[in-house]
Amino acid sequence: MSANTPVPQHNGPGREVVPTDRGTALPQRFENPGLEPHRHRMADVDPKAAKRAERQVATLFGISALGTVITLVAYFTIKFDTPMSFMDHLARTRLSTELLGIGLTLALFGLGAGAVHWAKTLMPDEERVEDRHLQRGSDADRRDAVAILKEGAAESGVGRRPLIRNSLIGALALVPLPAVALLRDTGPMPGNNLSTTFWKPGLKLIKDPQGTPVKAADMRIGSVVHIVPEGLTEETPDYLEEKAKAAVLLLRLEPDQLDAKSQPGAYEGIVAYSKICTHMGCPVALYEQQTHHLLCPCHQSTFDVTQDCKVVFGPAKRPLPQLAITVDTDGYLVAKHGFTQAVGPSFWERG
Ligand code: FES
Repeated sequence: MSANTPVPQHNGPGREVVPTDRGTALPQRFENPGLEPHRHRMADVDPKAAKRAERQVATLFGISALGTVITLVAYFTIKFDTPMSFMDHLARTRLSTELLGIGLTLALFGLGAGAVHWAKTLMPDEERVEDRHLQRGSDADRRDAVAILKEGAAESGVGRRPLIRNSLIGALALVPLPAVALLRDTGPMPGNNLSTTFWKPGLKLIKDPQGTPVKAADMRIGSVVHIVPEGLTEETPDYLEEKAKAAVLLLRLEPDQLDAKSQPGAYEGIVAYSKICTHMGCPVALYEQQTHHLLCPCHQSTFDVTQDCKVVFGPAKRPLPQLAITVDTDGYLVAKHGFTQAVGPSFWERG
């Protein structure tokens, strides 16, 4: 200890003092000042005030429930599915937006404000001090903690105040409903829409955009034709989606150039494959006559027509699906059946 270090002086147990330069003495340890005396709230001492606070909390929960009802009514009653002028549509949109906003605000504000008001006016607010301790308390402490929690739950008045409890249950039960209702706006479930196309057995292969059927006899070796199914017109529901899924490339090779896997769906060297790249859905439209490769321009996936459109290069992970074809009695090319696997990007067939 250096000569300048202040030497503690003992002034009785727990009362060591350190002399300062100014001659005054600071205690080595400060006494715990303790807590301010607890101040009771109106609702703690006046039963009428407690009742009033209870009604206020219930009113706030009631406002929350009302907000939820307004939201649901606005959502289901303001419709946009009938023909209307632009100005009517605008007015309805504004009304719908305002009511949904007001309803959701009341629903969430009422619930939050009710909970805060309940805690501030009616729940116990006495300060308690707990000294630091090891993370896991002793069994006795744990038992005490459970007892305190139970006591807290009892003191919160959930059991004694059925008005608050019931209004809270009502508000909590209603508040998730708008979220469930709004899920409807994400559209209908896709069902098997992603794994099926417009193609059905017997549908003629129609040239796109000419709109004429194709005779097997008219296909020359090396020719490529863009095809859509017979009956797919602009009047077809979801025309663009259906066309995007059903688009097919029709090619003719020498029959002996096709491997055994390609043969069953082919007709005298004529084969039809989905035009939708199995990587990310771009149209595969580049055909190299010499190599019999189909190229996707987006990321250069390359498919070998002679090997059932197996991927020979690029990021695509599976072959282009083949559309099995044959001819009808007039010699026109028709589908034997629809695609036997999902067309398009590989995640579709898992949908
Ligand atoms: Fe065809 Fe990526 S979309 S290679």
